[in-house]
Amino acid sequence: MQTVMHISDLRRVRASLPGTFGLVPTMGALHEGHLSLVSRAKSECDHVGVSIFVNPAQFGAGEDLSRYPRDLDRDLKLLEPLGVDVVWAPAPQVVYPPAFQTWVTVEELSRGLEGGQRPGHFRGVATVVAKLFNLFVPDKAYFGQKDAQQVMVIKRMVEDLNFPVEIVVCPTVRATDGLALSSRNAYLGPEERRAATVLFRALSAARAAYENGERNGGSLRAAMRAILDAEPLAHVDYISAADPETLAEVDRADAGVLLSLAVRIGSTRLIDNFLLFPGDAHAARH
Ligand code: PAJ
Repeated sequence: MQTVMHISDLRRVRASLPGTFGLVPTMGALHEGHLSLVSRAKSECDHVGVSIFVNPAQFGAGEDLSRYPRDLDRDLKLLEPLGVDVVWAPAPQVVYPPAFQTWVTVEELSRGLEGGQRPGHFRGVATVVAKLFNLFVPDKAYFGQKDAQQVMVIKRMVEDLNFPVEIVVCPTVRATDGLALSSRNAYLGPEERRAATVLFRALSAARAAYENGERNGGSLRAAMRAILDAEPLAHVDYISAADPETLAEVDRADAGVLLSLAVRIGSTRLIDNFLLFPGDAHAARH
């Protein structure tokens, strides 16, 4: 496994790797969710690259950029046994030199949900991912369903800008109590960690309603709200039952639905989602 910081080194190593190449973009503080993407990439591609970069452009003012967990040595130890070929861990000024001024904006899909709460977030994500695609030149790139809107924004960008890369979406990896793994879970104290299962419980309640035939969008949102209201440590940023293609809130969920929510537990902001389709055996691809 070669770890590189500079762009010239990354290009040199990449050029030495023949065959198909899979890329896993991350911000580090790796957990089993990230590692599941790496394993999937490894099983499908001749060579695998991982980027580790806490991207300042996708953090808003007052967000957790400065306290976001960083431990490169630990991350490299986790990646080494998985057979990763190259890790790129650049400094911010390598990615955004002083004269930097070109941005990628995916307009409609970036507006609601996370984008509504975090202005500029998806501009930062799309721009850094476009740069990663140009630098790694991957055949496939692996993303988690955990960040459902991010997947939609990146797929749109790839289609609109004709990036020659296939986007592979991997299921959300969860703790045994249902909490989606996230680097931000490290912020949670013990009481908060217990309360954080409320996201999974709320989504599960709405899924149960959906499986029982409920197709009214307002009723699905109310099912989530009822569970969240019962958890005193939880403060809701949004609750959504949206069209899985446009992300518009649905009145009727006949053609499937993306249930998603953002909840603050103390000072930690968590997101989760279930993607439901009428034909699915368990009505869940999450
Ligand atoms: P980060 O939050 O580090 O996540 C990196 C990738 O891991 C993303 O595709 C995310 O969806 C996926 N992931 C996170 N938790 C997961 C889980 N519990 N199960 C499955 N996959 C999970 O997402 C980002 O970084 C950044 O926005 C990035 C795409 C790297 C651009 O900066």
